[in-house]
Amino acid sequence: LPELLAELDGTPALYGDLAVQAGDVRGYVPGHAAWARNIWYEVQEFEIASIADGAKKLRAIQRNWSLYSHQLHGRARLIQDALPKVSAKPLRFPEPAPLAPLGSWTLLAPDRILCASRCSSAFPNGEVQFIEDKSGPPNRAYLKLWEALTVARAYPRPGELCLDLGAAPGGWSWVLAGLGARVIAVDKAPLAPGLHSWALIEQRRMSAFALAPETIGPVDWLFSDIVCYPGRLLGLLRNWIASGLARNIVATVKFQGTTDHAAAREFAGIPGARLLHLWHNKHELTFLRLESALSVPG
Ligand SMILES: C[S@@+](CC[C@H](N)C(=O)[O-])C[C@H]1O[C@@H](n2cnc3c(N)ncnc32)[C@H](O)[C@@H]1O
Repeated sequence: LPELLAELDGTPALYGDLAVQAGDVRGYVPGHAAWARNIWYEVQEFEIASIADGAKKLRAIQRNWSLYSHQLHGRARLIQDALPKVSAKPLRFPEPAPLAPLGSWTLLAPDRILCASRCSSAFPNGEVQFIEDKSGPPNRAYLKLWEALTVARAYPRPGELCLDLGAAPGGWSWVLAGLGARVIAVDKAPLAPGLHSWALIEQRRMSAFALAPETIGPVDWLFSDIVCYPGRLLGLLRNWIASGLARNIVATVKFQGTTDHAAAREFAGIPGARLLHLWHNKHELTFLRLESALSVPG
């Protein structure tokens, strides 16, 4: 929340973790509020006479709603229970994210609802839950990549070439090879035992910054989870983008100590880029630049 508030201009009204900002939001895209878990668009506020009336008014707008409960929890829960059930089952990766529009609502007072029928996340309050794999991957970093691919609705296909920078101990390489993609895993540190004997994974023990795009050639996907200052990653990504050799890019922008908001804006400003704080991100943001977004006119 503090990161989001620093990112937003003005002084939004706060309802728990919900920051409500008045003003012209037409040009408001997720990249402008990268730290938001879920962005509510076209917000409406109205009075309700009763629990049944609240549920009826929400249902008249659309079918699927998720509650953001910051107060009056019991009353809010009764209204939510009177609405159609929305599946909250964790996803089994690579099961796709739900396609049905999911609105969000909250109680501002016993007789006042604030709601948005259109939100940036397909998941209740932006919380993306998976059925975890406790035995396959060498660490929990795989969850971040599962979420990035699920939210982007784009996945490396079998046989596609992925360059995984900062790959060790190999959670992301494990995800990519699991999808049938070929992986070049670059890190000064070694991959976990077992992963480097996987035929789809080629390990290169070196610095990612010493690897010129031209020496690798075209890749379908460029991934980076390198621990480094944002400015260094920006230089590396700009280099790859200028080379035209990476069709899709997914990278973690990591912050040490205070958040470098100026650097975050530079990542968000790259044409075709999206910058998001995933549910599984820590003090970091995820940068996405996908071919599918680049080919959409406008
Ligand atoms: C958070 S870990 C990556 C975790 C990995 N994505 C996974 O799923 O297992 C960050 C990695 O960046 C690597 N790293 C740091 N500087 C690097 C550099 N110059 N070149 C390549 N890797 C680097 C570290 O060795 C470390 O393994």
